[in-house]
Amino acid sequence: MLNKNLIDLEALSVTQIDKLIRKARKIMQSPADYRHACDGKILATLFYEPSTRTQMSFQTAMLKLGGRTIGFDNPMNSSVAKGESLKDTVSVISGYADIIAMRHPIEGTAMAASLYSQVPLINCGDGGHLHPTQTLTDIVTLSCEKGRLDHMKIGVCGDLLNGRTVHSLIKTLAKYEGNSFVLISTKKLGVPLYIIDILEKNGCPYEISHNLAEAITDLDVLYMTRIQRERFLSEAEYEAQKYVFVLDREKLDRAREDMIILHPLPRVNEITVDIDDDPRALYFKQAQYGMFGRMALILLLLQDEDFMIKERETELSEHCCDNPKCITQSEPYLPHLSYRKLGMQMCGFCDKRIN
Ligand code: CP
Repeated sequence: MLNKNLIDLEALSVTQIDKLIRKARKIMQSPADYRHACDGKILATLFYEPSTRTQMSFQTAMLKLGGRTIGFDNPMNSSVAKGESLKDTVSVISGYADIIAMRHPIEGTAMAASLYSQVPLINCGDGGHLHPTQTLTDIVTLSCEKGRLDHMKIGVCGDLLNGRTVHSLIKTLAKYEGNSFVLISTKKLGVPLYIIDILEKNGCPYEISHNLAEAITDLDVLYMTRIQRERFLSEAEYEAQKYVFVLDREKLDRAREDMIILHPLPRVNEITVDIDDDPRALYFKQAQYGMFGRMALILLLLQDEDFMIKERETELSEHCCDNPKCITQSEPYLPHLSYRKLGMQMCGFCDKRIN
């Protein structure tokens, strides 16, 4: 089955990703050509969780394409505060808007919402699970700044367990030839096992490191991330993990001159501010590339009939997902969707193994 929902960047082929990047670069070169591309169209931004970049870059993207925006950035100011279900909210809004961009703190929400949307729905982050348009931002940046998406040694550093941007990025770049990863984190905050499975399935070399100063020396890209305070069960657990990895001048001096530093932002002390003026520090420019990537995505979803996204083949399962962070736990009407992967039954919403 094909559809127009972007839940996971993994659903896109390399050809489709390249098409998105080409479109973003064309928009960057001549933005005036696209000023009326979405005249009369409405984007709804449904943000159940805080955001600066993703929400505002989507809104700016639609405004720059000539369209308009509706939405909320605090669900407590909507009927969600009265107990409205995800299903009902999405069913109603998809009758108002032409396209929906949604962020939610619970894993699998975008997939769940897409079941009830009549219009294209874009995952802008679902709990610690995925953040595909951040990855779109990252790969547009890599394409423009490194000139390629392959044959790179990429260091990812910080909260690799909860950092959804890292999961989406690794899944995407593992598809490109010659890439390898250095996974830099504490033992507690390493990538989930399913990401290791993906690296191994793709034959993508990876190393695990607990030392940023050592790992930084031969990287093409260093992708820093913050420790995701909001995903910890207790403040004490967060306190034990924060500030373990800080990129400062001393460490950066050990890196190559052509290494670039990316960060999805927001930053919370994991990069010292004196590095911001270093030509290798591209995180603010990266946020701007994201807006062009999102303009390209809106255009292809709304206007390119050939740009169809492959839906994962799921089946109805007897067993429900037991991941306490999965949307199936809080929206009980959802069907028990699952799929098989590597001989295991996986939840069709949060991608965790069903036991
Ligand atoms: N990178 C990112 O998702 O930033 P926001 O949380 O500000 O949207």
